[in-house]
Amino acid sequence: MWKLKLCVILIVLFSVSKRINCEDHGYFWHITDTHVDQNYSRTGNVKDMCHEDANLAENNHGSDNGLYGNFLCDAPQYLVNVTIAAMKEIHSNPDFIIWTGDNLPHTDDFYSDWDVIFEAIRNTTELLTTTFPNIPIIPCIGNHDTFPPNILPNDNTSSNIYKGYLDKAGWKDLVNESEWSNFLTGGYFSQLVKPGLRIISVNTILWYIPNNLTSDVPDPGNQFQWLEAVLKNSSQSLEKVYIIGHVPPGYYNRAYKGGETSPTMHHQHAESFTKILLKYSPIITGQFYGHVHLDMFQIFQYDTGTFKGSSILAPSVTPWHTNNNNNITLPVNPSVRLIHFSHIDSKLLDYDQYYLNLTKANSMKKVSEDPKNLYELLYTFTNFYGVPDLSTESLVKVYEELKQNETAFDLFFTFLTVGKKSVDCDNDCQVAQLCSMSCITDSEYNMCFRSSSYVVKPKLNSVVLYFCVALMITVTIMVAFYMYKKIFSSSSRNEYTRFSSI
Ligand SMILES: *[C@@H]1O[C@H](CO)[C@@H](O)[C@H](O)[C@H]1NC(C)=O
Ligand SMILES: *[C@@H]1O[C@H](CO)[C@@H](O)[C@H](O)[C@H]1NC(C)=O
Ligand SMILES: *[C@@H]1O[C@H](CO)[C@@H](O)[C@H](O)[C@H]1NC(C)=O
Ligand SMILES: *[C@@H]1O[C@H](CO)[C@@H](O)[C@H](O)[C@H]1NC(C)=O
Ligand SMILES: *[C@@H]1O[C@H](CO)[C@@H](O)[C@H](O)[C@H]1NC(C)=O
Ligand SMILES: *[C@@H]1O[C@H](CO)[C@@H](O)[C@H](O)[C@H]1NC(C)=O
Ligand SMILES: *[C@@H]1O[C@H](CO)[C@@H](O)[C@H](O)[C@H]1NC(C)=O
Ligand SMILES: *[C@@H]1O[C@H](CO)[C@@H](O)[C@H](O)[C@H]1NC(C)=O
Ligand SMILES: *[C@@H]1O[C@H](CO)[C@@H](O)[C@H](O)[C@H]1NC(C)=O
Ligand SMILES: *[C@@H]1O[C@H](CO)[C@@H](O)[C@H](O)[C@H]1NC(C)=O
Repeated sequence: MWKLKLCVILIVLFSVSKRINCEDHGYFWHITDTHVDQNYSRTGNVKDMCHEDANLAENNHGSDNGLYGNFLCDAPQYLVNVTIAAMKEIHSNPDFIIWTGDNLPHTDDFYSDWDVIFEAIRNTTELLTTTFPNIPIIPCIGNHDTFPPNILPNDNTSSNIYKGYLDKAGWKDLVNESEWSNFLTGGYFSQLVKPGLRIISVNTILWYIPNNLTSDVPDPGNQFQWLEAVLKNSSQSLEKVYIIGHVPPGYYNRAYKGGETSPTMHHQHAESFTKILLKYSPIITGQFYGHVHLDMFQIFQYDTGTFKGSSILAPSVTPWHTNNNNNITLPVNPSVRLIHFSHIDSKLLDYDQYYLNLTKANSMKKVSEDPKNLYELLYTFTNFYGVPDLSTESLVKVYEELKQNETAFDLFFTFLTVGKKSVDCDNDCQVAQLCSMSCITDSEYNMCFRSSSYVVKPKLNSVVLYFCVALMITVTIMVAFYMYKKIFSSSSRNEYTRFSSI
């Protein structure tokens, strides 16, 4: 007890000092994109999501897709179980947990009806609530949490969809009763997780580009109206706010070679959302999304020329990627993230990126009983990037460093896929990556994409290469000129005149 009192006294005395280390550090887990596939099989066809297929000779009989999963398949249930167990082992008493959606696999045969969707989500709800009893868990809806995927209607009149998440997926235990009516209106809600800190869970599927039921509706589910009202209340009550959602605003970071990447949200919805985010940027101290399965962040200019906000995107639990020649999606090691924040002002301080080395885990001879041995620390943000915290200013510094320093960019790109580096990032890839991180609106993005200054400065060996190429071109031109002169002087003047007069 006296320890607690001492700590409280110390906080009061030293609340101006950032480095104090008792009760002022809060922690929360971010888990996202589990994509559990109940039909994952260690002996299934790796070209068909590791599903058993009686009619195919290609089933992997004899070889093993892996106990913990496969880079070409979605997560086996066992992987999700050990992941949540590892979270408990590593930090059992977080202030809360954010869970940013996509619990169903990327397979067509799964989507039989809404009840299957709700049952799959409830399985993970129950795993989280039994592992972390009495810890607030804040969920949101992903594009793979709906039937069919990517689609939700503009209003709730035609169905009881949102009631299904509460009743059948178990979210009644997660969403405070006072917020049920908001959730039933459009799948969104907010929760005060501690005095002075409100988490707003937005339903980004209503704004998501493939959702063709909402593209023409200015405010699907009246979510913008609600969001503004909550933020207005929060700023009047001097609360700080974290926004969580599945799909981040802005642009994807991966493009077809030489091409531009595509926006994630309908134009009008992205515009309305970013307008609200800008207006309330002084109280929004964090934004957290999933969906891209990759470890990156975004800094928000909102066409203002200066950065006034940021988001951090957590990589997925599923290691899956599509095996196409363009490498638009990339394989990742399964991961979860522990974020540090300040209890004093809710500022984001740091995160620890934990991961399971899938290749290593699958090759272990005996099943590890201790999940601590499976999940390891990949890196800690502030240590790695040498910045004091996760504030927008710090993220801008990191971004500037990534633009200038190819060694730093290479390491960033390795962390992007949680240590599973499968491709190199050439200039086109770097432009797509850096523009998607620094541009949220269409005009910013278009400007960025057309400006070559966003290419990471080449390494010395590339400089040497460019120099050699330039030298070769010069020599070729000189030789060609010399030979042209020789031929020209030896050919008859008459012939030349004749040709030129035709
Ligand atoms: C995962 O955990 C749940 C809940 O404890 C359990 O019912 C299920 O059998 C586990 N599945 C696997 C594959 O370990
Ligand atoms: C497993 O595959 C069968 C056959 O394709 C399908 O009917 C079922 O819905 C799948 N179940 C799950 C949980 O993916
Ligand atoms: C939910 O979990 C149960 C028990 O582990 C399992 O039998 C069932 O297939 C799971 N349902 C879905 C839809 O994933
Ligand atoms: C939950 O709702 C009750 C009213 O029903 C309210 O008093 C309480 O503050 C809410 N709790 C949280 C964590 O939002
Ligand atoms: C739809 O939303 C309205 C509030 O906008 C709410 O009163 C109603 O209960 C909801 N309907 C269903 C079926 O959840
Ligand atoms: C919306 O897209 C789905 C496929 O995602 C398609 O089946 C449906 O016909 C489309 N609806 C409209 C109104 O375009
Ligand atoms: C804003 O606060 C008022 C007064 O406490 C409350 O009645 C209202 O429901 C709140 N609005 C939202 C959107 O939470
Ligand atoms: C895609 O990645 C594979 C390695 O996983 C590589 O061999 C191939 O060249 C890449 N394709 C492109 C177009 O980058
Ligand atoms: C570039 O980044 C690397 C890795 O973070 C670092 O060691 C190196 O000092 C940086 N170089 C410069 C010139 O800042
Ligand atoms: C994962 O494990 C493999 C095999 O043990 C190893 O080659 C690889 O370097 C490891 N990756 C990371 C990011 O530690």
